[in-house]
Amino acid sequence: MPENQEERKRRGIWGWPRTKWLLGIPLGGFLALVVGAAAMFGTGAAIEATGTDEFCATACHSHEQFIYPEWKESVHYSNRSGVRAGCADCHIPKEYPDKLIVKTKAGIRDGYHEFVLGSISTRERFEARRAEMAEKVWEEMRANDSRACRTCHKAESFADQSDRAERMHGRMETGDTTCIDCHDGVAHLAPYEAARKYPAASD
Ligand code: HEC
Ligand code: HEC
Ligand code: HEC
Repeated sequence: MPENQEERKRRGIWGWPRTKWLLGIPLGGFLALVVGAAAMFGTGAAIEATGTDEFCATACHSHEQFIYPEWKESVHYSNRSGVRAGCADCHIPKEYPDKLIVKTKAGIRDGYHEFVLGSISTRERFEARRAEMAEKVWEEMRANDSRACRTCHKAESFADQSDRAERMHGRMETGDTTCIDCHDGVAHLAPYEAARKYPAASD
């Protein structure tokens, strides 16, 4: 039999199949492996390991290059209180099952964009999509009344505010404004700030 056919026979089910429909077999094997590993080491451990600042900020080239440095310069990285807000504090819900749902969806979507499409692999590409990505985050935060912000900042505990802040914060009593409506770019450059800083990349 021809050599490549023999080769295929030797590699059995793990080989690259003749038609893409048969890709399901090695892919299924891989998935089983992932699920098995999660079962063995505990989903908890896998969730922990992929929820650290270290992982979120540096596992992807794009995040390490474009996101990590801005966060490090922000008030949420270092401040007079010494309390740091990490990636997961703002981006991953603390409660189950929301936590698992968000992580699974983001894992698949971000992995696909990062490793398959390279959607934000360069400064130009990143800036071209920043507004769209930011909008997604804002939308989520509007929908959940800035839940992540409120795990640390309690509206009822604001003290010694300026008159302006007090007036603005008072607007939340009606229930139709929330933190993110007024405070964007608190850990990253907001899109309009980025456009000013990287004009060439974002026109
Ligand atoms: C893990 C806790 C934590 C989370 C989550 C968090 N913050 Fe903060 N935030 C802080 C701390 C700590 C400071 C610094 C307070 C200080 O020492 O002045 C701060 C400061 C701020 C400031 C003041 C900025 C300045 O320049 O002085 C704003 C505005 C703010 N946060 C908004 C938000 C918003 C909006 C969110 C949600 C998107 C959020 N925070 C989420 C802990 C948090
Ligand atoms: C309607 C707009 C508005 C909303 C909604 C709002 N803020 Fe503010 N916030 C302001 C303004 C304006 C200031 C004052 C900024 C200044 O003086 O530089 C301020 C100041 C702050 C500060 C800094 C206080 C300081 O000492 O300077 C923090 C922290 C903060 N807001 C957090 C929040 C959080 C968390 C929420 C949601 C629970 C929220 N804000 C909702 C407008 C808003
Ligand atoms: C204090 C809350 C907070 C922290 C901490 C934080 N983010 Fe964000 N993130 C936001 C908000 C709010 C947006 C929406 C855009 C904006 O307002 O800056 C955002 C936007 C993003 C975006 C979309 C691109 C962009 O620049 O808008 C990515 C990707 C992202 N964050 C990843 C991360 C990673 C990775 C970390 C940790 C290194 C992190 N974030 C830490 C609140 C946070």
